Amino acid sequence: MPRSHVLLLLSACAWSLHPYRVVFRDVHAAFRSEDIHSAAHDLGGRVEHVSTTSARLHLPDDAAAATLAERSVLVRYVLEEWGAGATLREAASQARIPSDGSLANGASWRVRVQAAGRRTGLVNAHDPVLFKELGGVLDELPGPVRLKDAEEDVAVLLRGETVVVGRVVARGCAAQLLSQYRVADRAYRGSTTMDATLAFVTASFARVRPGDLVLDPFCGTGGNLLAACHMSRRPGIGADADARTLLRGTANCENGSLKLDARLRKAQNMANVGGRREKKRGEPSLASDASIRRNFLDRGLDPPRLVVSDVAALDGRLDDEEYYFDGGFVPVDAVDAIVCDPPYGVRERVDVGVEGAAPWRPALFELAAKRLRAGRRLAFWVPSSQAAAPELSSEIGHELPPSLSVVAAATQALGGTRARTLLAVEKS
Ligand SMILES: C[S@@+](CC[C@H](N)C(=O)[O-])C[C@H]1O[C@@H](n2cnc3c(N)ncnc32)[C@H](O)[C@@H]1O
Repeated sequence: MPRSHVLLLLSACAWSLHPYRVVFRDVHAAFRSEDIHSAAHDLGGRVEHVSTTSARLHLPDDAAAATLAERSVLVRYVLEEWGAGATLREAASQARIPSDGSLANGASWRVRVQAAGRRTGLVNAHDPVLFKELGGVLDELPGPVRLKDAEEDVAVLLRGETVVVGRVVARGCAAQLLSQYRVADRAYRGSTTMDATLAFVTASFARVRPGDLVLDPFCGTGGNLLAACHMSRRPGIGADADARTLLRGTANCENGSLKLDARLRKAQNMANVGGRREKKRGEPSLASDASIRRNFLDRGLDPPRLVVSDVAALDGRLDDEEYYFDGGFVPVDAVDAIVCDPPYGVRERVDVGVEGAAPWRPALFELAAKRLRAGRRLAFWVPSSQAAAPELSSEIGHELPPSLSVVAAATQALGGTRARTLLAVEKS
């Protein structure tokens, strides 16, 4: 295609995008930028700027903005942005109300404000100074004001470094998702089960989309896979070297101890664990039927297929029906995303992954290089000291096979000097 046609096409695409403003929840600030880039990317959008409290981005339409709010657990709400500035007066003077929207066509409205220095969300506006400053914008709205049950909310953000005026398009999914996925409410959970918010963030770093086949090679109780499968709406694959954790509550477990049939004994050999299942330190007491399967069914999701395997042997076992102990076997060609929280070496029974040494890394990277589809991602957590965290991207970059590269990293400070970093690696 001639260069002029490409430029025309690009500018046509740019024209069809509209400005929106994402306002973040007050959690996990370090993860916001990649989370919102991932969500916008999949919706054909473009992120212009991420600040401490919000992000300005361009999206095709309100439907995309609503999907973005459904897919990012860090979003508080999304506005159609009319204007922004250093002061309310400047933001109001910049404001352009789309002429084809419902507000321009007579919908009822009210003004909601997110106040400076307050952690609360949008509340009804009462300040006469604010109305005076907004005057010109509000004069353009032909519809009636309705403090209760207004069709549209005009929003003013006074919190953060920029004042923004716009219309509320969508509210975030966090409250609903977290009530559905809270770890404490799960029938099956363990001392290292991934926190629900961060499990969704992990899926977002891996850019899990509807219809994707997702693999978690360090599945544990399935915390990461649960969130990823909520996003993919397709049964995933969970693998773990510890059959007791993975298969708890399945037909392969009896009264909390495994029926060590020959097949399972062979599968477990790689992990070098055996004997009765003991309660791990900090592990909650669970019902005897607690299982990964039940956690998925309780949330309306199809349970995953469960493969007992050390990550080093998983590539071969993915193709071998013998190692599938729950959920049945379907041949796996390639996977669309890999999400995982590999062992930190402290609380896991399996004696691998001791901090400092990381024997799982080469095996995980080899698996990702072999099984990930081109252009798709692995998202995984790595523990370190807080001081060492900034070096992790380049350290891991040097360990990766040529087809993989680090594309994002964000660190969570833990207690003391400890930290863990979520990395996203993409296959070329
Ligand atoms: C931090 S936990 C994962 C917790 C999990 N995300 C959850 O929500 O329950 C790490 C898991 O890796 C497993 N594991 C340790 N070494 C492994 C290896 N070499 N191959 C496969 N799994 C391994 C452990 O049995 C443990 O279940």
